[in-house]
Amino acid sequence: MRKLLLRTLIISLVFLTSCSSGFLFNFIEGEDLLSERNFINIAHRGASGHAPEHTMVAYELGKEMHGDFIEIDLQLTADEEIVVFHDDYVDRVTNKSGEVESFTLKQLKQLDVGSWFNKKHPSRASAAFEDLRVVTLEEILDYFGDDLNYYLEIKETENIDLLLKKLYEILHDYDLIERKDRKAQIVIHSFHYEYLLQIHEDEPDIPLVQLIRFRRKANLSNDRINTIKEYAIGIGLNHKRLSRKFVQKIRRSGLLLHPYTVNDKKRMRQIIGWGVTGMSTDFPDRLHEVLEDLKAGR
Ligand code: G3P
Ligand code: CA
Repeated sequence: MRKLLLRTLIISLVFLTSCSSGFLFNFIEGEDLLSERNFINIAHRGASGHAPEHTMVAYELGKEMHGDFIEIDLQLTADEEIVVFHDDYVDRVTNKSGEVESFTLKQLKQLDVGSWFNKKHPSRASAAFEDLRVVTLEEILDYFGDDLNYYLEIKETENIDLLLKKLYEILHDYDLIERKDRKAQIVIHSFHYEYLLQIHEDEPDIPLVQLIRFRRKANLSNDRINTIKEYAIGIGLNHKRLSRKFVQKIRRSGLLLHPYTVNDKKRMRQIIGWGVTGMSTDFPDRLHEVLEDLKAGR
């Protein structure tokens, strides 16, 4: 009982300190990465500032650059395979045109999803980025196994039932649900609350994060926060709409807060100081440096 009281007191102190006077670094060995006492570095679409998004190279770099999780956008192909692709259309990152879901996996595999990066970012171009291929979720899991944690996003789809069915099969096959040893963890996030509610009903052990894109300063009623708490462990939102007050409100509610997509070190430092519990970034190396500086008291 005394132990429990002491633990509650410590948690309250940590929380109050982080909310009132700025972020208190409190990485705890063996602690669940998704504990509200931890902070996570989420490599958005891999280390997508350094390499073409959603390619094995970007994921590999995300891991090397200390991403705790790799963020992965999921879509279904015309022949019902789960592939990783951000946009609805292939146009931006390939030299073809059309909706991702209208391609079969074989057709998608014929597209080069790397060369666009070299043209767009000549200063970061590399011959290794030419001719990279679309990957499936299973290929990623086969390749990285327990060496990564996976922060999966369900994009809008006409075939949500099928996508979820396939996804559950894969996650069970790879033992990524109810994983007790915490060697490889998953989170699922989506802007679509109805998808998250469905997942919560089907697979209540999967940690969920509700994505919200605020058009004005972030604000949520207590009712809305309580509703989100019924199915999700946290909220992800566009960091530009974030305020210190909002961070405090969400942290007080017990939800995690993972803003996206933060690429500027000064801004990273600022919102860490407000008490966010993680963030998505195209540059996990920058976030790592900020965290190392804070840990060293710099
Ligand atoms: O991490 C949140 C982020 O992935 C949502 O935005 O458009 O990059 O998928 P988007
Ligand atoms: Ca995403």
